[in-house]
Parts: sequence; C-alpha cells; structure tokens
Amino acid sequence: MTKNILVTGGAGFIGSNFINYILPKRDDIKIVNLDKLTYAGNLNNLAPVFQNKNYTFVKGDICNTELVDYIFRKYSINYVINFAAESHVDRSILGSEIFFKTNVLGTNILLETSKRYEVEKFIQISTDEVYGSLGPSGKFTENTPLAPNSPYSSSKASADLMALSFHHTYGLPVVVTRCSNNYGPLQFPEKLIPLMIINSMNNKKLPVYGDGLNVRDWIYVLDHNKAVEIVLDSGAPGEVYNIGADQEMKNIEIVNLILKALGKDESLIEYVKDRPGHDRRYAIDSTKTQTELGWKPDYVFEEAIVSTINWYKENQAWWETIISGEYLDYYKKQYKS
Ligand code: NAD
Ligand code: TYD
Repeated sequence: MTKNILVTGGAGFIGSNFINYILPKRDDIKIVNLDKLTYAGNLNNLAPVFQNKNYTFVKGDICNTELVDYIFRKYSINYVINFAAESHVDRSILGSEIFFKTNVLGTNILLETSKRYEVEKFIQISTDEVYGSLGPSGKFTENTPLAPNSPYSSSKASADLMALSFHHTYGLPVVVTRCSNNYGPLQFPEKLIPLMIINSMNNKKLPVYGDGLNVRDWIYVLDHNKAVEIVLDSGAPGEVYNIGADQEMKNIEIVNLILKALGKDESLIEYVKDRPGHDRRYAIDSTKTQTELGWKPDYVFEEAIVSTINWYKENQAWWETIISGEYLDYYKKQYKS
C-alpha cells in the first residue's frame, strides 16, 4: 500500500537529505513536503527530486491549522514525519518564543490533525539533547529521564512528551526517535562542523566556546535517515528509539581535524566566551534500535568527515549565498559581545 507521507521541514538539513535519499529508491512512497522556508530552509537542497512524480512541495507553517488540515485531506496523508523545528541552541538562547511556537505548538497541530485523520504512523524526530548533559562516563538510553537544559532542548522534550501522550491517551501510533549530532552535506553553516569548514576556507577565525572540551556524539546524516526509514517501516507505536553511531569527539578535536584537512593553521582558532548553560557531554546508546529494528550505522567519522569537508569545498555556491546574509554576523556579534 502506498505511504502518503507528510514530511515537515523537508527543506532543512536532515529533512532534505531524507527526501533525496528515500524518494528515488521507493515506489511505494509519495511525499508532501511542508516547509515554512525559514532562514534554515532552502529549496535548492531538493534539486535531485524536483522532477520526481511522487514529490510535492507546499510552502507553509506547521502552526497553520487550516493549511495542515487541507494537506491531510487533499493528499490523503497516512504517515507523518515531523522534522520541522527551530534547531539551533544559540538562537534559542537569544530568543526562545519561536522555538516554543514551532517545536511545541506546531507539533500539537500536527498531532491533532493526525488524530482526526487516523494516520498509520506519526514519527517525531527528536534529539539526544532532551536527556540533558552527561559527566565523563555513561550513555543516554531510552529510559534516561529527560532533563533538557536549553530553550531548544526543552522545547523538543515538550514535543516528545506531548507526542507520547497522544499515543497513551488516544492510541495515535506515535514513534519518537532521538538522534545525536548530525553532520554531512547541506547543513546550515551556523552549526559547528559547516561553520568551522567554511570559516577555515575563508581564513576567518574559528570561535571555540569555553575550553573546547565539550563532547558530542556524531552521526553521518545518511545513517540517521536510514534509521528513520526503518522506523517508518517497522518502528513500534508508543516506542522511543535512540539513534547514534558511537563517535564521541571533543569540539577542539573536530576543529583541529578540519584545519588539518584544509591545510590551515591552528592560529585561526579563537577561544570565545562559553555558551550559557553549555551541555558538557552527550553520548547515546542505540542498542535498542540496533537489536529491535536491525539498524546499524555504516559511516565511520574519520572517513565521512573528509567527504563532508570535500562537499563544502565543491559546493561553494550553495553556502556563499547563505553566509553573505548579514543576519549570521548579526547574531554572532550579539551572542559573543
Ligand atoms: P534545520 O534547521 O536545518 O531545518 C529545519 C527546517 O524546518 C527548515 O527547512 C525550516 O524552514 C523548517 N521549519 C522551521 N519552522 C517551520 C514551521 N513552523 N513550519 C514548517 N517548517 C518549518 O534542522 P535540521 O538540523 O535538519 O533538524 C531537523 C530535525 O531533526 C529537527 O526536529 C531537529 O530538532 C532534529 N535533530 C537535529 C539534529 C542535528 O544534529 N541537526 C540532531 C538530532 C535531531
Ligand atoms: P552545535 O553544532 O550548535 O550543536 P549542539 O549545540 O546542538 O550540540 O554545537 C556543537 C558543539 O560545538 C557544542 O558543544 C557547541 C560548540 N560550538 C562551538 O564551540 N563554536 C561554535 O561556533 C558553534 C556553533 C558550536
């Protein structure tokens, strides 16, 4: 049976990689991509599927109840994958309102509409950041209590809990995925890895927050999206699945690796004021997803980071238009002054 999927936020980093990955290889899937095209959304990301007969784009806001209802009716939506979000921690520190509007209220509107139309599965794309911060040891499992620390992560945790409550109360077939930090092509250059690659190429300073020893657990975006596909096909309603690739790295290690790969000097590094409330360490245990769903990551950080760096080298036109926007400088100045 055809899956008529509403993908939200499909013009962003992970969502566009997901659509470009899944549509060409599956005849049983039709995708309607609902995206507001915020600063983070970019239709050029979807060039590989523009002509695909199973792809439709709608520009709009997940907070628009009438529009969302119209899409469900018109396209007989029976699956939802909710990627849409305000996704950057630094921006949430500067102003949190839009985070709670999109990430919480928007998710509520999608859930209510999914309930009315009795969808077969609702996948809430979440993050390991909902678990809070780890000390030097241990990993997040699906049973780790939620303890989000930033406006971003608390908005995502709110949405997770709301989605699971729709399963508990109404029997809506909700599945929540919690993934670690993604890297790869098409990531907006406000996040650590693309920012450091592009600044290095332009001989600009690389702003490292605090002591640079914060740890993130990195996963290549395609590994994340392969897990989402498996959850789409086989994820059990009411369940939470952690997704991660066991690739913990200190921020400064990544920055040094990028500098080395680009033949640049460490003098470009600039230690700057720390991010307020900066989580020290994330590490995710994805045993459940691996054993129950048969997923496993394929990409090794040391190799996939090189192909990622090469992608940004070869796609200068993609990021040049973005970094020429004044807003990036604007918020960086605000935050670091
Ligand atoms: P992104 O910021 O690159 O893209 C977000 C997309 O959502 C953009 O295309 C934007 O236009 C769209 N959008 C924002 N508000 C909208 C609204 N109100 N209505 C419709 N569309 C809207 O984000 P990303 O990095 O691709 O993350 C996608 C999802 O994955 C998010 O839910 C995020 O919380 C989650 N996640 C991200 C990471 C990561 O490392 N980037 C890790 C784990 C989970
Ligand atoms: P980021 O890519 O914003 O992801 P998240 O905060 O969601 O994990 O940041 C990853 C790590 O890199 C985090 O510890 C903050 C740090 N960081 C810097 O040191 N400098 C920067 O300019 C940015 C954007 C992040």
